[in-house]
Amino acid sequence: PFSSGKVDALSTLAALASVSLRNSDLRDAQRNFFSHMTDLIVTALDAHLLHQNGHGNRVAQYANRVGRELDLDDRCLQRLHFAALLHDIGMLKIERALLTNTKACEKHPQLGGRMLERIRLWEDVAPIVLHHHEWFDGTGYPEQLKGDAVPLEARIISVCEAFDVMISSSSYKLAMDVSEATQELSDCASTQFDPEIVETFKNLVERGVIEPTTV
Ligand SMILES: [Fe+2]
Repeated sequence: PFSSGKVDALSTLAALASVSLRNSDLRDAQRNFFSHMTDLIVTALDAHLLHQNGHGNRVAQYANRVGRELDLDDRCLQRLHFAALLHDIGMLKIERALLTNTKACEKHPQLGGRMLERIRLWEDVAPIVLHHHEWFDGTGYPEQLKGDAVPLEARIISVCEAFDVMISSSSYKLAMDVSEATQELSDCASTQFDPEIVETFKNLVERGVIEPTTV
């Protein structure tokens, strides 16, 4: 038989085990909630931006390949994933009639950043969304950050999203082919884009790790 001290210890262990089980249920529920809610939001965004169906999902896929190639840790990859899916979320706050107005649309990084920073579990995604239109040479928007001052995840998304926009056709432009688009990335390396990320991206396309999806 167990001494009362041992029984105490055992019941403490049992209580701890049940807490950790409950925590893991919660974590599972949280993960489930996040992935499905994100999907709903991305679907709403796609419906709002009629001309670029699936843009967020494609950017997330490319960004993940780049992030893995750069050996980013899991936390960083996860941040990158959600930020890539949601980078244009601020567009939801811009009326349909203004979606062709460049000036009006330039507000979307700030709008998106503000939407996300209020969600505590996405706090670290907000600055990436806020800065995804900064340029490597400091001439982007909204804060004219330069080089490494732009979050790495934002620099990755910037390259991936430009590539997707270039190889997609829309109501107002024809699609470029993949080689034209990668050439354009090279031409804009060090001005618009982080040159190391452009190199990594092109290398992944050449090796077939990134498979460009055209729509
Ligand atoms: Fe954007």
